[in-house]
This record gives sequence, C-alpha cells and structure tokens, in this order.
Amino acid sequence: MNSSVLKAADILRRGGLVAIPTETVYGLAADATCELAVRQIFAVKGRPSHHPLIVHLPDVASIRPWVAEFPPAAEKLAHAFWPGPLTLIFKKSDLASPVVTGEQNTVGIRVPRHALTLELLREVKTGLAAPSANRFGGVSPTTAQHVQKDLGALIPYILDGGPCLVGVESTIVDVSREVPAILRPGGVPQEDIERVLGHSVSLEKKPTSVRASGMLESHYAPKAGVLLVEENQVASVTQKCLHEGKKVAAWVEMSTALPSLVTRFDLPKNPLERARELYATLRLIDATGVDVIVTTLPKETGLDAAVRDRLQRAAAPRQDQ
Ligand code: TXA
Ligand code: MG
Repeated sequence: MNSSVLKAADILRRGGLVAIPTETVYGLAADATCELAVRQIFAVKGRPSHHPLIVHLPDVASIRPWVAEFPPAAEKLAHAFWPGPLTLIFKKSDLASPVVTGEQNTVGIRVPRHALTLELLREVKTGLAAPSANRFGGVSPTTAQHVQKDLGALIPYILDGGPCLVGVESTIVDVSREVPAILRPGGVPQEDIERVLGHSVSLEKKPTSVRASGMLESHYAPKAGVLLVEENQVASVTQKCLHEGKKVAAWVEMSTALPSLVTRFDLPKNPLERARELYATLRLIDATGVDVIVTTLPKETGLDAAVRDRLQRAAAPRQDQ
C-alpha cells in the first residue's frame, strides 16, 4: 500500500479533510458518513451549505447502500462509463445524510478513474464526499500545486496524484427522474451518453428546483474578465481592449493574428487537450495579472461542450462586480 494513501486514509478516518486527485479535477474530500467532517468542507470552500456534494465510491457494488433504487438507465451508464468522469443523481437512501445532499431527496454518486483515489476509497471503506478543491466560484484545480495555492493553509494533506488527465468536471446525469437529463456537461460527451441510452437526452440549461452550484451563472471564474468572441473578431476585440488601457491576454490558436501588446497562450487544436489545459491556462493567465482574457467560443459537440460551458460561466456577469 502506498504510504501517502495510508496517511490520507488516517486523516479521513479521524474526520479530517484531504484533497484527492481524480481524472477530472482535484476534490476536497471528507468521510461522507461523518457530518462534522462534511461540514468542514463547506467552511473551507466558502460554499453555501445547501449545495449538494458528490459521494465518491470505489465500484458499483459499493453504491447500493447509498441509493433507494438503481434504475436500468443508471445500470447502462455505470457499466459504460465507470470508473470515469460521470456523476449519476439517484434517489437517496438513509445513509446519504442531508448535509451531503443539500437536504434534497437525491444523492450524486461517482466512481472516479484514478488509481490512488480508488486505492484510498478501498482503504477507508466509506464514501468520500468531495467538491472540487477550490474556493467557491473560482477556477477548479487540476494539479496538487493548484490546491496548495488555494487551500494549502486550510487543509492537513493533499494526496498528489499528478495532473488531472480529463481536466473538466464530470458530466452529471439525473437518473432519479423518469426521463434522464444532463445537469452539467463534462468529461463524458452528451453524444456518448445518448449512444449508450439509445435515445436523445436533454441538457438542462437553467437552474431548476435542483440546486447544482455548477449551474450558477457565474462560476469557474478567474480574476480577469473573460471575453468570448468569434475567431475573426479576436484581433479587433483585443485591439479595442488595448485602446481602453487594459492589459490583455488571448487563448487562441497559433495561427490567429494578434496585436503585439497582447500576451498569447496557445489554444490546442485537439478537444482533449483543450479540456485538459483549460483550468491550468486560466490560472496561468491570471498569474500574469492581465485585466481581460480573450478567447474563442468552442463548439457545442463532444468535450468542447464542457469547455464551452465553463468558459461561458467564467464570462458571465459576476455578483461582486
Ligand atoms: O468531476 C467532478 O465531478 C468533481 C470531482 C472532484 O469529482 N467534483 C465536482 O464537485 O465538480 P462540485 O461540488 O464542484 O460540483 C458537483 C456538482 C454541483 O453542481 C452540485 O450541486 C451537483 O454536482 N450535485 C451534487 N449532488 C447533487 C444532487 N443530489 N442533485 C443535483 N445536483 C447535485
Ligand atoms: Mg466545483
């Protein structure tokens, strides 16, 4: 057994918090059966207490005690995508505490695809409640160093599992209702979910009675403002920002022409890489202290749909401005 996993398990068993690696983003984990531990997550993140958390488990067999029913659509999706970047919303059992579920009658469950965290889950033999390990509303962490910077002073241990391979959060599918719906686009593309279910699935755009913090309009936001433009507007929009006296960075493909005063960050051509690099790039750009980040709006298909969603939320009007 890996000694870092043993250390993490020990802290979790005592009701402490540990940042854990997953294939999507790093999570801030607590024993989901210990309400005191779970409450600390909300305090450390600065997250409103009614926002539900995802419970992470090592395999499908360990999910049964957490859910009231396991519908056929869930069976299909679990079989196809777990371990992986998919969260399923089930009708909850009594084991899922209201502190974890935001007092809803449903619970979000995920089997992450990361060797260290799977080892940890098997060692602690409990579910781990874990939101992304960043301050509420900010950019999610995809390396242990990101977590260290945001929350290092507030948590006892970060289990370093290297950079996250997917880079955007899990796709959330609500299977607690008669017709499953996607609540958040993510690491499993909508097209793949539809192929497995054998029918089209709607993507819920607006927050409904279901409270999902990733569904707030402004979220995943860097300090700099974000402007989403068409490829052919990049040059004119960045020029205009410079005229207004702003410091500007652009996340654009190598071939895109830019005024010389704009700092360039390369936007990969491959959707997998765009997703993987999204949050690290937003953080890197923020560290340069620019006022504005200009980038192009990705397509609505495949993994780009998740990148598009996160950029739209990063660009949305902010409450504090
Ligand atoms: O990839 C991920 O999902 C990452 C890693 C750490 O697993 N986790 C993550 O957690 O993104 P968080 O808390 O930042 O976002 C989870 C989303 C929130 O929008 C939350 O409201 C929603 O899942 N959620 C959790 N339980 C829910 C429920 N019972 N009903 C509706 N939405 C739920
Ligand atoms: Mg989050």
